[in-house]
Amino acid sequence: MTTQAATFTTPATSESALEPCCLVIFGASGDLTARMLLPALYNLALDRRLPPRFAMVGFARTEWTDEEFRDHARKAVEEHSRRKVDPDVWSTFASALHYMHGGYNDPTSHDRLSEKLEAVQEAHNTGGNHLFYLAVPPTAFDDIVAQLGRGPYGRSREGAGWSRVIVEKPFGTDLKSARDLNHLLHSVFHEDDVYRIDHYLGKETVQNILVFRFANGIFEPIWNRRYVDHVQITVAESLGIEGRGEYYDHSGALRDIMQNHMMQLLSLLAMEPPLAVNGRSVRNEKVKVLHAVRLFERDEVALSTARGQYSSGWVAGAEVPGYREEEGIPKTSATETYVAARFYVDSWRWADVPFYMRTAKRLPKRSTEIAVFFKRAPRLLFQDYTDEPNLEPNVLSIRIQPNEGISLKFLTKVPGSPMRLRPANMDFLYGASFVTQAPSAYETLLLDALRGDATLFTRSDEVEAAWTITDRIIDGWRAMPEPGFPNYEAGSWGPACADDLIAKDGRQWRRL
Ligand code: BG6
Repeated sequence: MTTQAATFTTPATSESALEPCCLVIFGASGDLTARMLLPALYNLALDRRLPPRFAMVGFARTEWTDEEFRDHARKAVEEHSRRKVDPDVWSTFASALHYMHGGYNDPTSHDRLSEKLEAVQEAHNTGGNHLFYLAVPPTAFDDIVAQLGRGPYGRSREGAGWSRVIVEKPFGTDLKSARDLNHLLHSVFHEDDVYRIDHYLGKETVQNILVFRFANGIFEPIWNRRYVDHVQITVAESLGIEGRGEYYDHSGALRDIMQNHMMQLLSLLAMEPPLAVNGRSVRNEKVKVLHAVRLFERDEVALSTARGQYSSGWVAGAEVPGYREEEGIPKTSATETYVAARFYVDSWRWADVPFYMRTAKRLPKRSTEIAVFFKRAPRLLFQDYTDEPNLEPNVLSIRIQPNEGISLKFLTKVPGSPMRLRPANMDFLYGASFVTQAPSAYETLLLDALRGDATLFTRSDEVEAAWTITDRIIDGWRAMPEPGFPNYEAGSWGPACADDLIAKDGRQWRRL
């Protein structure tokens, strides 16, 4: 190995304690590595937040040399980084990048990888610590984990540096496959060393749910069934399936977003205060919420869920094809691109409070939001001053993205007489309150994995609990007649059955 060791000077913060490490990315020539991982690593280097002794080895099938990989990495960072490339930082960063090609299931390739890792460890003085990143399609997980188990990694390395593994989503396609994958991972790694990514947890606004709820004294007393009427969680996307037809048609909106990102939002919103802000305490409380979600019986699924698929239409002034006309999608596909459901969390705090959740592709705009609707004040005093049969409720909305912020809606008196009431908003906007640009979710998550902090990663029991809930819906849908798809136009707010789902409870979806 002729490469000179790259030395990353870290600022004088707790991160100066970051242990040396070699990051190994499987799937290094792929899209995720180019769009997310390399830019995130480069931005960590720019902020001097990588461990002082750090190296990265990319592994994939494409036949590249170290130099070719570095050129590829530079282009990827130039295209996708949130900040410009600084030539000095780049040259130190690039000297830490290495590459080898091979087959994921080929023992000889993995033997060569082990040799390469030893050489890199020696050259960069990374002390035998390894962070493996599975940035590959799930079909390759089994082979890679089995090969890592054969090598000197995982549990077998105890005392010889640590090994951690980051696993990308989707984590299984149902409870059984998720359990099998957990089982496989546990045969090589300790659960504490398994980092299951849900990139929503790396978003600043999602992390802020904990701070908002538990660092302020005024919200917790009213955060329960006595004051909350219902909650709406929306993940609306204007995008379609972006060329991912093959994956998406086997997944659908339920598995792609509701099972993971939305269940995580639900658990953070509904959890009890943790004993401490660490991986064990936070995840202990989150998983209790998922265990408390009422499971649908088969015949309840039709009443408590709605699904849809988009036809052609107009989004943001452009004409877009219907789902069944997208590349790689069968003309008769029954995959849902819209799902809505009404859940109950059967805990003392939330008994009988409905949690309405919806997510879809090709809605009019991109918006992820949690809205907590409080119980209304009695109309008694103001019945002569409003034509509405009820006073509008206070709504606390947490905007995860875009226009990140939090608003509280309340009623005010319109100046002048006669007395009239109108809702107004108290607004907090991240953009207006903080000048610093937030790190990307992948920067946060990679740094946490390097640090050994799993708080923002999904634990095996959480993943299984979320699949237990989701499997009941899949099972109920299977027992129902084929849905009449497509049933909503691209650029509309979804199918009529989703409006009916909430309307029969006397409520409506919040306008975003
Ligand atoms: C991914 C889904 O997990 O999240 C995509 O597979 C979706 O279908 C994406 O578009 C949304 O992420 P974000 O960060 O843009 O909300």
